[in-house]
Amino acid sequence: MSVRRLAKEQPESFAFTPETLEKVHWWIGKYPEGRQRSAVIPILWLVQKQEGWVSEPAIRTVADLLDLDVIRVLEVATFYTMFQLEPVGRAALIQVCGTTPCQLRGASALMETCKAEIGPKDRLSSDGLFTWQEVECLGACVNAPMAQINDLYFEDLTPESLKQIIAEFREGKTPKAGSYAGRRSSEPAGGPLTLLDESLYDGRLAKPITLPNRPEPAPKPAPAA
Ligand code: FES
Repeated sequence: MSVRRLAKEQPESFAFTPETLEKVHWWIGKYPEGRQRSAVIPILWLVQKQEGWVSEPAIRTVADLLDLDVIRVLEVATFYTMFQLEPVGRAALIQVCGTTPCQLRGASALMETCKAEIGPKDRLSSDGLFTWQEVECLGACVNAPMAQINDLYFEDLTPESLKQIIAEFREGKTPKAGSYAGRRSSEPAGGPLTLLDESLYDGRLAKPITLPNRPEPAPKPAPAA
């Protein structure tokens, strides 16, 4: 379990942009009267979307907004690893999966690539463009090894493809997400081996479902005279 603390250097203040504030109120409105505090996680997520990370002034602002003790918001922000407590790279936050299936398929080599191209783990790169982290299973083991970069999954990676992806982000481009082994979704490497008949995927050929007739209910016995 990682120790998660607030960044040593914090901004003076935090303010929602009008666009973010509109979304904040939409989320708050989703909860029944008296339960608005439950919006704490989506609102912290919106803070992160706006700033790239969650600062201490932002935590105080969220606490004020939801009428919560600051410690309650702090607990949430420090518990969930999806919240970044330090500034992250402007171009890309690269989260390399380091759990067993990805390790067996070459995650260590991906981390070495990150180290060589970006610098030490969990630190903002010297140009402020990148941060890379090692994370636990991201649920895409069948396309191992993989990394989440910003909001998208990059799968079937090799050191070469990851290097290319980092270079594209550095140039301000948006590299394509998904499999870098050319497979569609999580089909077997080398292409599908079963369910090859294309007509299986043609919804127009689906037969209407006929439900069996329901049996007539048994007649009720006549009431006793
Ligand atoms: S082990 Fe890497 S995605 Fe599951």
